[in-house]
Amino acid sequence: MAARRPSAALSAALAERHVLVVCGAGGVGKTTTAAALGLEAARLGRRALVCTIDPSRRLATSLGLGQLSQKPRRLPLGRFGVAAEGEMWAMTLDTKGTFDSLVERFAGSEAARRRILGNRFYQQVSAALAGTHEYMAMEKLLELSADARFDLVILDTPPTRHALDFLEAPDRMMSFLDASVLRWFLKPYFVAGRLTLKVATRTGAALLGLVDRYLGLQFLQDLSEFFLAFEAMYDGFKERAARVFGLLREPTSGFVLVASPAQASLDEVLYFHRRLEEKRMPFVALVVNRLHPQPSGPARRRASAAVSPGLAAKLAEVLAEEHLVARAEHRRVGRVEVDIGRRPVPVPELESDVHDLRGLAEVAGALFGSA
Ligand SMILES: Nc1ncnc2c1ncn2[C@@H]1O[C@H](COP(=O)(O)OP(=O)(O)OP(=O)(O)O)[C@@H](O)[C@H]1O
Ligand SMILES: [Mg+2]
Repeated sequence: MAARRPSAALSAALAERHVLVVCGAGGVGKTTTAAALGLEAARLGRRALVCTIDPSRRLATSLGLGQLSQKPRRLPLGRFGVAAEGEMWAMTLDTKGTFDSLVERFAGSEAARRRILGNRFYQQVSAALAGTHEYMAMEKLLELSADARFDLVILDTPPTRHALDFLEAPDRMMSFLDASVLRWFLKPYFVAGRLTLKVATRTGAALLGLVDRYLGLQFLQDLSEFFLAFEAMYDGFKERAARVFGLLREPTSGFVLVASPAQASLDEVLYFHRRLEEKRMPFVALVVNRLHPQPSGPARRRASAAVSPGLAAKLAEVLAEEHLVARAEHRRVGRVEVDIGRRPVPVPELESDVHDLRGLAEVAGALFGSA
């Protein structure tokens, strides 16, 4: 029997699962991988939706996603010469819009809804809050996974410095909204309805004084109003967050981790993998993207046949260096394999950026060994 291909688990997941989340640190190739997986899933006959986050403009354009494509759009794969039995859909996540619709759902009354959506603090900060993007991506996932048009939803995740930020987002979001410190000293202040600095302790008063001095009372009032209005929605948010965690734990869901071959990136992904196990969330595969290929025989021959001896020596030096880099990467990836007990799926560094279906097909080809 032929050795199991490294991508076997990934292929099986594309064929069977319902939700795949693509995670990794900033810039490692999450969006590219998510889109390539969507393409392969369509080839396997599935109706796959890729929910991208901040795709590069060129990729977005070639996927037919304008700036405002927050609704799933079906890609005319046939027109691009891609034979697929299934369907590939793509959309871009709109964090602010998702947040707004959550508020609409949970605000309770029309007045509360208007109060929050019109709140200056909300308008300015809702998109910038730590964890908001990640949290809204999860929120969207809940909605999309129930959409009958798709039998597979592939969720790209936001560019975070640390991959783990995605998993921690609901907790952080909740603890921010629940921030007892903030509530504790803002609420009495607001409830009093006057711009007084009447708070329980001296520390509180001192803090308030500082906030007032640097941020202004209007800001403070907006902030406390925001928290007050949010209070009613807190349970709704919490319940949704619990459901997202439930969904991510389902055996029909799965995580695809992406890393670069740099040691720091591999270390981080190992840590992420451990956290997935701790949280009992299903790991599917690790993709190591942008590996340096071993210099090929022809490249070596070209180097030795180069015109001048000086140039030949230079070329040989470059090739030797590439060879060393490739070998070091190979060793590092081998160690990761031992740690996670699964062969990582390698994707080489391509000649150019991946910004269209042809590039995605090339990545899919590297992932799955198809043409
Ligand atoms: N194997 C590859 N070969 C060449 N270029 C690649 C490869 N994989 C990704 N790229 C390019 O690297 C850049 C970053 O990739 P991508 O946008 O997929 O990363 P990301 O992890 O989604 O980044 P962010 O964290 O900012 O969202 C893109 O320009 C993409 O075209
Ligand atoms: Mg991205």
